[in-house]
Amino acid sequence: QSPRIVVVGSLNADLVVRTARFPQPGETLTGSELAVIPGGKGANQAVAAGRLGGDVTMVGAVGDDAHGSLLRESLSSSGVDVTRIARRDDVATGTAVITVDDAGENTIIVSPGANGTLTPDRIGEAWTALDGAGVVCLCLEVPIDTVLETARRGAAAGALVLLNLSPYGPVPEELLQATGVLLVNEHEAADLARVDPEEAGWEATATALRSHGIRRAVVTTGAAGSVVIDGEADPTSVPSPTVDAVDTTGCGDAFMGALALRLAAGDELVDAARFASTVGSYAATGAGAQASYPDQEQLAAFLEQR
Ligand code: RIB
Ligand code: NA
Repeated sequence: QSPRIVVVGSLNADLVVRTARFPQPGETLTGSELAVIPGGKGANQAVAAGRLGGDVTMVGAVGDDAHGSLLRESLSSSGVDVTRIARRDDVATGTAVITVDDAGENTIIVSPGANGTLTPDRIGEAWTALDGAGVVCLCLEVPIDTVLETARRGAAAGALVLLNLSPYGPVPEELLQATGVLLVNEHEAADLARVDPEEAGWEATATALRSHGIRRAVVTTGAAGSVVIDGEADPTSVPSPTVDAVDTTGCGDAFMGALALRLAAGDELVDAARFASTVGSYAATGAGAQASYPDQEQLAAFLEQR
């Protein structure tokens, strides 16, 4: 059994409506039936890794409501330990209002709810989840103090800290330094490095990232796949399987969960990224976030068709 993966992050109920195209400001459109399905970047990462056989613990918070039960259920049926998910009685479970268009693209607005109560203090006893963890997964949908404290504790305990800088925003340099592997998209990488990879190239981008204390990163480049930056080595581009995208919601989280799984098993970063690309592409072929994540059998069948 590979070392344990601990996700400290968000859980959201995704309220999803499909429309042919996105509305303009002030415009009203009629969409599909409403789907209420499990999401949240943290929970998505945990489900992705758990469904593929990882030993995963989720640390987070939900409200005492139906959405909270939906999320626990999705996690536990994917084999994730849910005993460190707190239930708050004074605040609703986090929600995400999502539209998906015919191209499978999305817009998302998150209302944090209980995720906002996941402060370092209130994590309390659940911090013990980090004892003996191999890989720790973080995103920015919970309070930044918690992200920073988790990264500190994880790094101090010898775990590999993975951070998805999403939803993107400024973060303390200390967080980047405690991070083992950063997951960002191209635009975020350009912003962090203050270098545009398209103009300056990936080597210059990698050098600029290193000057901010970021030595290892996976930069997703949309349908093209990703670029892996691993120390001083030349950045490696990793293509991802081409698919007809139905819904790309949560593909980045599927990628991250799969990356965590393979890194926990001891893979090199570039090999883990190759595996994660396949899982991310698979997730684009189905509706919803967690609802579209593969188990081992489904992934094997998908690979066979290629
Ligand atoms: O990354 C996708 C996720 O972002 C959705 O599941 C939604 O809950 C938002 O957190
Ligand atoms: Na999907």
